Amino acid sequence: MIIAIDGSAASGKGTLARNLAHAFHLAHLDTGLLYRAVGLKLLSQDKSLHDEETAIEVAQSLTFQDLRDPDLRGDFAAQAASQIAIIPGVRAALLDFQRNFAKHPPQPYQGVVLDGRDIGTIILPDADFKFFVTAQLEIRSNRRVQELASRDLPADYETVYADMLARDQRDQERAIAPALPAKDAIIIDTSYLNPQEVLEIASQIILEKMKLSGQNNSIKPIL
Ligand code: CDP
Repeated sequence: MIIAIDGSAASGKGTLARNLAHAFHLAHLDTGLLYRAVGLKLLSQDKSLHDEETAIEVAQSLTFQDLRDPDLRGDFAAQAASQIAIIPGVRAALLDFQRNFAKHPPQPYQGVVLDGRDIGTIILPDADFKFFVTAQLEIRSNRRVQELASRDLPADYETVYADMLARDQRDQERAIAPALPAKDAIIIDTSYLNPQEVLEIASQIILEKMKLSGQNNSIKPIL
């Protein structure tokens, strides 16, 4: 089973991805971490985020170990990520990493959930299920402020709002792999839904689709 989840920052796509992975016993890859890791590594080597050659080298040599750095979660890393994410060579290198994960999920899993910006459109266009998760910008900003504060990271509403708006625009308007829903993605607006409600909606859609296509209907997600 391959599930592709795309969406904007703090829309709840990561939470849905984690919850679906648990419910259907699938391996999960938060692909934003890959872009964040490339951005932070570049900065830690005192390189510019516009240094395309080094950025591509860093992307080509990325390992799972690089995804464990706790600093990846901060908004500094998110901004760096969205700047190197426009470099075609970086995206090409990370495309292989992501497809490889989907093709060979870590033991004991037999399927995957990937969440990001271009999973349903570019990385896994043949995914069995595609969701595009969205929510109002003000609500997303509030969520991000709370999330940052809970991790003792700097969290000021005005700054978070402005950063998120800038990142939304950069992600949606970039020439390569813009963050837009795949034609066959199901859009879920989480503005007024809690994580459990979102999980139940997505799981229901998955089970219905499996039933319609005559697939294994003995699967019982853990909800
Ligand atoms: O959850 P949030 O959007 O804050 O962060 P993220 O998913 O870790 O993504 C950080 C940035 O990486 C995004 O703003 C995108 O510019 C970039 N990204 C991307 O281009 N493609 C992906 N598949 C994932 C992230």
